[in-house]
Amino acid sequence: MADAGYFEIESDNSCCNLILTVIIFFIFFSIYKTRELPSIHVEEFYVPALNSSNFNTINNTIYINLKLKNRNPVTGLYYIDPLYFNLSFIPKEQNTSLIHLAEFGLHGFYQGNGKAKHIKGLLMTRGLPTVSNATNNGSQVPAGAFRVDFLGKVRYKLIGWHQRHPMSLAANVEVDDKTGVKVGDKAIRMVKSGAWNHKRALILPVSMLFGVFFM
Ligand SMILES: *[C@@H]1O[C@H](CO)[C@@H](O)[C@H](O)[C@H]1NC(C)=O
Ligand SMILES: *[C@@H]1O[C@H](CO)[C@@H](O)[C@H](O)[C@H]1NC(C)=O
Ligand SMILES: *[C@@H]1O[C@H](CO)[C@@H](O)[C@H](O)[C@H]1NC(C)=O
Ligand SMILES: *[C@@H]1O[C@H](CO)[C@@H](O)[C@H](O)[C@H]1NC(C)=O
Ligand SMILES: *[C@@H]1O[C@H](CO)[C@@H](O)[C@H](O)[C@H]1NC(C)=O
Ligand SMILES: *[C@@H]1O[C@H](CO)[C@@H](O)[C@H](O)[C@H]1NC(C)=O
Repeated sequence: MADAGYFEIESDNSCCNLILTVIIFFIFFSIYKTRELPSIHVEEFYVPALNSSNFNTINNTIYINLKLKNRNPVTGLYYIDPLYFNLSFIPKEQNTSLIHLAEFGLHGFYQGNGKAKHIKGLLMTRGLPTVSNATNNGSQVPAGAFRVDFLGKVRYKLIGWHQRHPMSLAANVEVDDKTGVKVGDKAIRMVKSGAWNHKRALILPVSMLFGVFFM
């Protein structure tokens, strides 16, 4: 009798274990399936130098408001230190050459599931490009678009999941040449760019160094 009882318990256990394993598998599978990289939107972009009310004052700043969103319903995200934003100008006349305006870095941070973070403020540029205007004897920013680049890496907050996902995103921002404000009311979504491939060589050795020290 004692033997039979022993076997009964044993078989119950393995049945429970199997159900538990299947449940855990499906939980992990659904978490795995919903992994998504964060989205970045340019919500506001204002170039004071293009505001026709300020034409006479030299103002090399740009106001920018970016929104970083973790689109995962259940998974937290680590933005890995360091993250780079790079601002440049593409003249309409010579649209293959980028004029470098400013860059800024962010420290890595954690972002909970579904959360959004705004990065905004007035950026000092290296100087906006200018062309002289014979009519008013002044100089002004030439026609063209602004470009925002993002380079960074993220990691999902999942147990046993240490993979880092490089991201290189970019957006072209058109600005009204009378008001200096971004054209259109909708936020501009930054989309995948090839920039990472060029920066890889630069950033990888740095992160590998970090890896060695903090693993
Ligand atoms: C343009 O400049 C004027 C005068 O400085 C200011 O009142 C106005 O708010 C500026 N426009 C924007 C969009 O900031
Ligand atoms: C440039 O414009 C910004 C936004 O209007 C303003 O806050 C800042 O004081 C201006 N800087 C200069 C030097 O005029
Ligand atoms: C760049 O300029 C050329 C000619 O001026 C034009 O054909 C091309 O579409 C422009 N490219 C972009 C990305 O604006
Ligand atoms: C920012 O962009 C400029 C122009 O493309 C480039 O020269 C510079 O290296 C970039 N900086 C970073 C940190 O990517
Ligand atoms: C030069 O300035 C005048 C007056 O501010 C303006 O009407 C004109 O469009 C400007 N020229 C160019 C090429 O932007
Ligand atoms: C432009 O500059 C020239 C030479 O400095 C001057 O003679 C002319 O009066 C100026 N024109 C205007 C509209 O300011």
